[in-house]
Amino acid sequence: MIDDMLRTPEAIRDAERWTAHNYHPLPVVISSAEGSWLTDVDGRRYLDCLAGYSALNFGHRHPTLIAATHAQLDRLTLTSRAFVHDQFADFCRELAELCGKDLVLPMNTGAEAVETGIKVARKWGYQVKGVAPGMANIVVAEGNFHGRTTTIVSFSTDSDARADFGPYTPGFTVVPYGDLAALSAAIDENTVAVLLEPIQGEQGVVVPPEGYLPGVRRVCTEQNVLFIADEIQSGLGRTGQTFACDHEGVTPDMYLLGKALGGGIVPVSAVAADTDVLGVLRPGQHGSTFGGNPLACAVATEVVRLLATGEFQRRSTELGARLHAGLRSLVGRGLLAVRGRGLWAGLDIDPALMSGREACERLAERGVLAKDTHGSTIRLAPPLVITEEEIDHAVAQLAAVLAG
Ligand SMILES: Cc1ncc(COP(=O)(O)O)c(C=O)c1O
Repeated sequence: MIDDMLRTPEAIRDAERWTAHNYHPLPVVISSAEGSWLTDVDGRRYLDCLAGYSALNFGHRHPTLIAATHAQLDRLTLTSRAFVHDQFADFCRELAELCGKDLVLPMNTGAEAVETGIKVARKWGYQVKGVAPGMANIVVAEGNFHGRTTTIVSFSTDSDARADFGPYTPGFTVVPYGDLAALSAAIDENTVAVLLEPIQGEQGVVVPPEGYLPGVRRVCTEQNVLFIADEIQSGLGRTGQTFACDHEGVTPDMYLLGKALGGGIVPVSAVAADTDVLGVLRPGQHGSTFGGNPLACAVATEVVRLLATGEFQRRSTELGARLHAGLRSLVGRGLLAVRGRGLWAGLDIDPALMSGREACERLAERGVLAKDTHGSTIRLAPPLVITEEEIDHAVAQLAAVLAG
């Protein structure tokens, strides 16, 4: 097809003309998808190795999730929390059981789950721990990514995310990620929580040293501080366990969940915790018009049921081993390092060869979609329904890109 017959360039021009430039997408315009594959407006097919930053853990249009969506669309979509609806209790109970917690508080986006966690931890600090009014503090990690609200970017260490969005919300102390001594030293009588990603996704799939998460758990218990695990990207099967914390046998006080919880169909997030923590909230103190709506609950209940089978965690473990073996074979052949767990990998490309952006553009030309993060790092997070052959295909295309 000659270039001026393609629909892609015009679609990109239109999108750029009419939107704020808060993203720099790859130059592909997707129009349909199924499983691990995307098709663009010109009929080209791509293997999805990003999966909506883990929002599509079950692939595109998983039949069970699509069926649940259609069925719910035909019955009831929204009530607000002014009334109870018939999809609510099952979702909350089944998610609470998956998390091993007493209670669930549903919201919509990941950032809202994080905001919820911060509010609950502060209230818990004042009402249960006895912190002096206005003094509650939360310890967070360098390199964190928890979302885009003004409070959350206040404790970001990424200048793009933070600069010029002040005045910033006080009440956070930033310590190096993976350094237990620094974290312990930052805790005092006003500390109400430690908020961490068990694996830092946006930072380039950074796995903390072994023993760090159990150490954080121990310190939090000893100091009467809540351990809040942001599992919005790392959770729900991505790493080969239901939660990334499970790899080290760690149970946080609060799980923050999002992304895959909505099955790639609707935004659904949630906080899960025990009654002594989530029970501090009273009517009128927190909420969301769309949080826990019937459509969201119907889809997310099926997501929880898919996870309860263990099939996706198993796939992530087995296929992740294949992915990592393939990627490790490229270290020294264009890759400097590979990190990650399960079907989740951060790759450092030799910057002398090309930037992460260039690598992703060349991969896209070869029919594989991935996304760069921070210079020469790219992240692979394919849907957990990907096959062995598709993994081998992705690794082969990456090898070809690196070979120039
Ligand atoms: C660990 C983590 N927390 C929170 C968020 C924010 O989620 P959302 O974009 O749905 O607000 C993200 C998004 O990438 C994330 O990776």
